[in-house]
Amino acid sequence: MNFTELNLSKDILKGLEAIGFAEATDVQAKTIPLILDGADVIGHSKTGTGKTAAFGLPTIQRVDVSKDFVQALVMCPTRELAMQVCDEIRKFSRFIRGFRAVAIYGGQNIERQISALEKGVQFVIGTPGRILDHIKRGTLNLENVNTVVLDEADEMLDMGFRDDMEAILKKTPKSRQTLLFSATMSSDILRLTKRYQNNPQHIKVASQEKTVNEITQLCYPVPKNRKNDVLYMVLKEWSENLIIIFCNTKKQVDDLTQDLQELGIKAEGIHGDMKQPERSFVLTAFKTGKINILVATDVAARGIDVDGIDVVINYDIPQDLEFYIHRIGRTGRAGKTGYSYTFAEGRDEMARIREIEKFTRAKIQLMPKPDEEALAFAVMERMVFELRDILKTGARKELSQMTSLLHSDGYSYEEIANALAQKLILPKADKKKERRTGAKMTTLVFNIGSNLEINAGHIVAAIARTGGLPGEVIGRISVGETETKADIPTLFAQDVLPKLENLKIRGKRVTVTIQ
Ligand code: CDP
Ligand code: MG
Repeated sequence: MNFTELNLSKDILKGLEAIGFAEATDVQAKTIPLILDGADVIGHSKTGTGKTAAFGLPTIQRVDVSKDFVQALVMCPTRELAMQVCDEIRKFSRFIRGFRAVAIYGGQNIERQISALEKGVQFVIGTPGRILDHIKRGTLNLENVNTVVLDEADEMLDMGFRDDMEAILKKTPKSRQTLLFSATMSSDILRLTKRYQNNPQHIKVASQEKTVNEITQLCYPVPKNRKNDVLYMVLKEWSENLIIIFCNTKKQVDDLTQDLQELGIKAEGIHGDMKQPERSFVLTAFKTGKINILVATDVAARGIDVDGIDVVINYDIPQDLEFYIHRIGRTGRAGKTGYSYTFAEGRDEMARIREIEKFTRAKIQLMPKPDEEALAFAVMERMVFELRDILKTGARKELSQMTSLLHSDGYSYEEIANALAQKLILPKADKKKERRTGAKMTTLVFNIGSNLEINAGHIVAAIARTGGLPGEVIGRISVGETETKADIPTLFAQDVLPKLENLKIRGKRVTVTIQ
């Protein structure tokens, strides 16, 4: 539907034209008429579907610019989102004379916000904590508010803003219009709406299929403790692209950002513990392409709108199934195709991938588990960086004794360097292998084989039943013509062997020895 069909004022349409909006999105087409009518609305649609304009446009239109008190209030979960929504509102209202919007959020000088509020704004966008601050100071009066919007309401509840939100709502007139927009809708939030909304119209725009078509979803099984190596392998393929990497914790964001930066990769992290100027800096750097990788927590990334993201990487599997959709919804926007990679470490996480598939009704393509060879590349690359660092200042002098000694044996410096690299890189790989195969094994030899129609099953049964060893710890079994070999953990060999002394298989006496 075209915006011109939506009963919006000339000035607003002019604003939309200036920023190139022509067609309304589904959620906009469905909610704008209701909001203009004064109804309470619940708008439920995924991230990136244009919820800001859906509540923003009609709410702007309902403001009376001849009055200079606050008439519309939007609550947002984060400072970034408040700033972003305020930017959008200003763009939409650019051609309305006398219209004033301001964002108020923690981390910014409160005096500056006070003087902005004193100028007589009609439209306020803020985070619940800071809004409440201003109410308490008497610098924000909500007695004449017509419309209150809870943007990403679910997120605000998750962040513990419930009390603040309720306290703020109580400061506004009962007769107000209450709008609630969110990408997720929990039973918690619906309960809240019952108390604060009046006969709300629930508009849900289903668009899960869209996610499926536009985003190629991939999953990498990751060997234990090798997420960084797999990540590096993936980043290599996408070195020129805009990428968001999601982690589940702030600490993981910090650690990973540092690891990437140490590899010379242009990445920055963003999460809720960072100071406001820092967060703004990181976002600007990302939006302007100064860095191409953003490492983020779910909360910090929520609602932030950056165009042209090519790849989303779930470094950690999201804790909440809904989060998965929000995360990957960052890419594949505006008809472009996007890619998502999810790392799954171990069996539990693979099971989680299957849950996500069921939930999103979309296929997640399983990639082959990267082997040591593929990952060695990442390890080498990292070593190159570390060595360059050392070479810049020069290695410590006494170490050259070793090099000279080997060189006088007749080896070239290149050979020596490669040997050193092998010693540094390969032991790690060997250790991993040992862990994977587990315990040390001993080979038992049974003097019976395929000539007597013996198969591996007979041998397993004999070791398990007669030898008293659980079947799953028995290793490889190879059946030869006249003898059969079976590996069992060395730890149990001395217990098992005596029990097999009078062993009979298929009625035949069998002798068992250790190889
Ligand atoms: O809030 P939500 O996650 O649903 O999305 P948003 O932050 O409002 O972002 C929607 C994006 O689509 C923004 O970049 C808008 O500029 C753009 N857009 C829109 O909102 N409405 C249109 N009719 C066309 C584009
Ligand atoms: Mg939004």
